Amino acid sequence: MRLTRVPGLLFGGDYNPEQWPEEVWAEDAKLMVEAGVNMATVAVFSWSRLEPRPGEYDFGWLDRVLDLLHEHGIAADLATATATPPPWLVREHPETMPVDAHGTRLEFGSRQGYCPSSPIFRAATVRLARAMAERYGNHPALAMWHIGNEYADHTLECFCDESARHFRRWLTDRYADIDGLNAAWGTSCWGQHYTDFGQINPPRVAPGPINPAQVLDWRRFCSDALLECFEAEKVVLREVTPDIPVTTNFMSILHGLDYWKWAAAEDFVSDDAYPDPADPTSHTGIALSYDLMRSLKRRPWLLLEQAPSAVSWREVNVPKPPGKMRLDSLQALAHGADGVMFFQWRQAHYGPEKFHSALLPHGGVQTRGWQDTLRLGGDLGKLAEIAGTHGRADVALVLDWDSWWGLEAPESMPTKRLALLRLMRTWYEPLHALGITVDLTPPDRDLSDYRLVIAPNLYLCTEESAANLSAYPGELVVGSFSGVVDAADRIHPGGAPGPLRELLGLSVDEFWPLADGVEQSVRYADGTTGTATRWAEWIRTEGAAGIAEYADGDLAGQPAITRLGRATYVGCALEDVTPVLTDALTRAGVRPVADLPPGVEAGLRTGPDADYLFLLNHGTTTAALTLRAPGTDLLTGRDLHGSIEIGPRDAVVLRTAHEGEK
Ligand code: GAL
Repeated sequence: MRLTRVPGLLFGGDYNPEQWPEEVWAEDAKLMVEAGVNMATVAVFSWSRLEPRPGEYDFGWLDRVLDLLHEHGIAADLATATATPPPWLVREHPETMPVDAHGTRLEFGSRQGYCPSSPIFRAATVRLARAMAERYGNHPALAMWHIGNEYADHTLECFCDESARHFRRWLTDRYADIDGLNAAWGTSCWGQHYTDFGQINPPRVAPGPINPAQVLDWRRFCSDALLECFEAEKVVLREVTPDIPVTTNFMSILHGLDYWKWAAAEDFVSDDAYPDPADPTSHTGIALSYDLMRSLKRRPWLLLEQAPSAVSWREVNVPKPPGKMRLDSLQALAHGADGVMFFQWRQAHYGPEKFHSALLPHGGVQTRGWQDTLRLGGDLGKLAEIAGTHGRADVALVLDWDSWWGLEAPESMPTKRLALLRLMRTWYEPLHALGITVDLTPPDRDLSDYRLVIAPNLYLCTEESAANLSAYPGELVVGSFSGVVDAADRIHPGGAPGPLRELLGLSVDEFWPLADGVEQSVRYADGTTGTATRWAEWIRTEGAAGIAEYADGDLAGQPAITRLGRATYVGCALEDVTPVLTDALTRAGVRPVADLPPGVEAGLRTGPDADYLFLLNHGTTTAALTLRAPGTDLLTGRDLHGSIEIGPRDAVVLRTAHEGEK
């Protein structure tokens, strides 16, 4: 199924014509056609130009932009324009601006300044969304709606009185009565017993550590409050333009928003990705993010923003060397994207993003950047047939936002050194290097498609999630400090691993956080050793067999890694999980999609008539590998078989027969 009515892969970027005189627009359209652009994102930050005074609209310029795009065969990803409220709204209603945890109300002068709970802000967005839908619902350029922009960027939370009232309503829905809340939050501790919901505030700055259950509910609330803003606009768009798909641009793997919930509210997932070109490993981190995007709805998604070269918001904004923008784009496709879009089309001449790269740089068509744009457009045309095809994974990594929020509570944990993304990457990186496709999954989704499920950490584990994992018939690996608390951040009876105890056949006697710099040696049954840092546990086995033990220190001789049946438990934070992973992959019978040399990434998409194997050389030297099956490289048109070479930062996209037919 296609994302939009536009055929092939989507290609284009944020287009901000209001920053340019109209004479420039014709050249924009001409050059977009030359580059093969078929989609432009418009009006993201245009509220103050579209509604310069309350209820008074100026659509003329946007009419001309959309007409021009359409005349040139370019579709619009049309924003509802609600991302930055205009100055008049802020001046008339200063209470629509967000307040920080110290009680300071933020000022106008940047972007995305709003209190997500403000009824005035919400009503104004819904009014504008309706006006946009009524004006452009039948415009032939309109292909998709882009609601808001990067929810949680700049404004994730607001601590004002309106937000406090909203938080209390949210809590009332969750707990029904105040005693339910008292029980869930454990308010008997530190004398916090409430007698009325009206006594509860957001977790503003307090004299000491704030109740972690309150903070956890606040995280849930903040994600939900922003989602309500999205939903409020979506309702109007659905009513006026029921056939136009809606999305909003995610920000890769983001702590602040529960993307499982958010994705369910979208017609398709779209993402913004800004891997740092200065970091030689950033392609692995972003691959994890892309796998999340593919997994959220288990269907193709859209890379809605990336930088053609440098961004403008890091300490040092390193450009992408020749070939990298193309390779980054092919990488998104390898992970299931059905289009690659950019921020932005024409490089700005003023404002905070004047140094941010664009598809059409300041220097115009003479530049290296523009040549890269033309090349990419040509390549995407050659890959049109992959649109709608999908990746299939045998391995899944568990990701749960509640658990993430619980684990990374700002205070009151046994250690502050367990960051979820680092734990995830410890497992993901070797899988990625091996060429094994990985999905992400929430702990309570049907897991029956997978042969191996890995939960790098599931600090917060409900009875339902534990039951789902216990019923899963495949190989399972559970990482340390899992099954510790319930949905309200209360320790499970008997301690960790709580509802996973029977499945794993053990209980944790005592958590054993490792001081900074301490390396805890772990010895496997075959005599080889590994290293744990940051975290270990004193485990008591109750049926599980030890498959590795601590080799030194106070834990010497205690089990470090255990197995019971198909369930492996890793009771420490291993620096390198390869031995455990290799064993689990073998037991599960999982094979990589290709045999890869270092630095080469693989991705497989399956279509109705063929498989598409992406081989991406992220290295700076030529890589050699042997193909398992012959095929045609869609980028060059060459038929390939046997040993092949891939140049530095180059790629092959091989159309081959379906796996079973080779
Ligand atoms: C995104 C944002 C864009 C642009 C871009 C620059 O976060 O959605 O509008 O600012 O960053 O990298």
